[in-house]
This record gives sequence, structure tokens and C-alpha cells, in this order.
Amino acid sequence: MSSFKTEPKTNYQTLLTSHPNLRLDSIKGLCFGTIALEMLTKHYGSPLWIINADIIKSRYQRLTQAFQPKKIDVSIHYAVKANDHLAVIDLLAKEGAGVDIVSLGELKRALQVHINPKKICFSGVGKTEEELKTAIDLELGQINVESREELLLISQVAQQRGKKAAICLRINPDVNAKTHHKITTGLAENKFGIAYQHALPVYKEAYQLSHIIPLGFDVHIGSQISSVEPYQKAFVKMVDLIQHARLEGLKVSVLDCGGGFGISYYNEKEANPVELADLMDKTFASLDLHLCIEPGRWLVGPAGILISKVTRRKDNESKAAPFIILDAAMNDLIRPAMYDAWHGILPVQAEIYNRPLESLNIDGPICESSDIFARQRNLPSLKEGDDIAILDTGAYGHVMSSSYNARPQALQLMIKNNKVHLIKPRQTIEELWNKEIIPE
Ligand code: LLP
Repeated sequence: MSSFKTEPKTNYQTLLTSHPNLRLDSIKGLCFGTIALEMLTKHYGSPLWIINADIIKSRYQRLTQAFQPKKIDVSIHYAVKANDHLAVIDLLAKEGAGVDIVSLGELKRALQVHINPKKICFSGVGKTEEELKTAIDLELGQINVESREELLLISQVAQQRGKKAAICLRINPDVNAKTHHKITTGLAENKFGIAYQHALPVYKEAYQLSHIIPLGFDVHIGSQISSVEPYQKAFVKMVDLIQHARLEGLKVSVLDCGGGFGISYYNEKEANPVELADLMDKTFASLDLHLCIEPGRWLVGPAGILISKVTRRKDNESKAAPFIILDAAMNDLIRPAMYDAWHGILPVQAEIYNRPLESLNIDGPICESSDIFARQRNLPSLKEGDDIAILDTGAYGHVMSSSYNARPQALQLMIKNNKVHLIKPRQTIEELWNKEIIPE
């Protein structure tokens, strides 16, 4: 994952080349597909989020097409955590996707757009008894079990409800996904999954439980992974495990290969669905398995933009670069503060592009030094009132936002069929406290 430490030095030209959905019009300024971004802040104010349904749809189709010529049987479960807006889940469900969920809230979101419970896969390391009851009553397609303790609880709950629960065991393969350490999940030191060496005994145990239907295994090694190499390492281990299980007479019909496919924030290599499909085909074609994948970021990340206005320009002579303070902050987009993540930034108004380039620090207004969007970024000179677009924020953007510093959550727009739709109004300040109670 890119970080401030390895900040690329080039300018906005590279970003425009690496983001074909963005176009610079000499009059209208920055356009996202056919939509000129300048008119959006005029109409809706800022900051604002835009998610482009047309891009999500075409990315989903690219993903399915990569698997079409293959012999393997694969279903796609969109990882709702990446962007849980109902309109996004609904769009992907209508394209044929199932979902991967990790909480009762995400489950209810999926049900709200009428996803068939059989197409829901329930992941997560700390599912509560209440969540499991609901999942079991709904007979979800698959519960990914993260520990022996959870398996026993599921068995007990299923028995109490007079139901059977279909499960996969999530295995921790101890493979380095070579991504940011905060989004690595497949190393032995991570909390996720059942240790590889315990996988077979726990799977055997699952077979003894009368209210459990053991489907197979699940492996998810991390997020923002751009090469297939870590997947290959994990998959080889899974093949070995599946073969051992079958030698012991245990049926394995499902392998959930997880998500984690990376996107290009700058001009780094994006995970290529064709390479992934090739690898999965080569590795699993002879094993007679139903495979699933759980992509989140890859489907929605490049489809989103956060637009913000420059509130202040602080020229500080003792510092190399002026501070450009935006009206968006870490409460809106936390990825730079949390993972040192690098997001492309482009000016919105055409006129800005005529100004000389300079090195700028781009910051939010929150009282934390980590409220940062970019350090020493080469951009056309920026001043108060200018709009800028922060790119590739469709995944883990609005969904991770908070109201820190009593900042209402920003408005959300969706571009669909080349038209702009309001999909969530700006939160009002009063909404921040309208459920708060002051005790006598
Ligand atoms: N499946 C499971 C079990 C997961 O935990 C995740 C993501 C996914 C699928 C989807 O991964 P994706 O395809 O989106 O990489 N907030 C971080 C990313 C955290 C990912 C958490 N799990 C970020 O902003 O980079």
C-alpha cells in the first residue's frame, strides 16, 4: 500500500492517465464520466461523496467475464463493508452478486435490498449469539467460522433453534499478503481464522456435530493485494488441506477464496481479475469445488470521489510547503490518517490547471496532526474557494466516517446512467445530538 513515506513525485498528468474515467475539459474542468464536478459543489455544497454506479457495474462485469471462460464454478460475494450504501448493495445484487457480511447491521442492509439469504456469507471473528441466532434462523448460505469456540456456539444455537447451520472454516494460512500491516489478516499473529495446523481436527469435529453442515474452507489473507503471488501461496496450502480432509473421508464442497484484490491509487498495478481467474482455474479445476470470492475494494474503490473545498491557505515561511486546509477532514476520509494511505488529488475547476505547480501540504481542519490528506504534493497552486477531488474513495471512504469534532457526515451522490442522484442528504448538526440524554 502506498504511504506518505513513498509519496510519488509526479504531478496530476499521471493521475489523469491512470484514471480513464476522469477527464479534464478546458471549460468544465474535471469530469467524472460525463459529469462535470464543478457544478456539483455549486448545487450541493461541500464536502460531498460521489459514487459512480456505471463504473461499479462495468467492474463487476469485468470480474465475471474473467471467470466465464474457465472450468471452475465461482460465485461473487460483494464485501459490504467496503461501501454499505443500500444503492450500492442493490446495484450489485441486481447484477447477480451475493454478499459477504460481518455484522447484524450489514445483514439487515442486505435483507433490506432483498438479497436471498442463500447468497449471504457471514464472516467475522466475533459474531455474537444474537447475530448467530438471526443467521441460523434465516438459513444463510454460509457462515465462515473463525474458531473452534465459535463452531461449538453455532452448533449449540442451531440445536436450540431446531436448525442446521452451513459452515466453512476460515483458515489462517500464515501467509504474508505483502500489504500494509494494518490490513494483513493471514499471518499467524493476526486474530483471524483457525491456525492451519488445527484446521483438520476442527473440521473433523464439525462433522461430529449433528446441527452443523460442513461445506468446506475459507481463506482471506488481507486487503489491497496487487499480485497473485500471496494468493498462490495460500491456495497451495488450501489444496493440501482439502486433499488431506478428503483422504480422511470428509466431504469438502466449497472453498471461499476471500477478497483483498488491490486497486491502483497512483499508477501502481491493479489486481488483474484475469490473472486471478487463471490462478484459481489452474489450482482448483481438478478438485470439483464450488469457489467463492469476496471482493470489496476492487469493485467500488475506483468508483468513488470525495470533493472538498479549500477553506484556508496558510503560507508558512518556515516550512517547505504551504498548508492547504480543506473543509473535509479525517472524520470523512480516515484512510490517510489510519494507514498512511495515498489518494490522488486533482483540482476541480478548469482555471486552476493554468496556475504554476507547487508543492503543497493538504490537511483537514480537525485538531489532530494526523488529519492529513497529502504531504508535499505537486499540484497547481491552490487558494481559498477552490474545489479539489480526492480520488478512489468509493471503498472504505464514507463507510468509515465519523462525526468527530461534531462534524456532520457529508452528503452522498450517485452517478447512474450518466445522471446525478442524491442518495443521502448531508447530516444536520442537530442530528448529532438528537438522541443524546442529559441525566437529571
Ligand atoms: N472478506 C473478508 C473476510 C474481509 O475481512 C474483507 C476486508 C474483505 C472480504 C474485502 O476485502 P477487499 O476486497 O475490500 O480488500 N479499511 C481498510 C480495509 C480493511 C479490509 C477489511 N476486510 C482500508 O481502508 O484499506
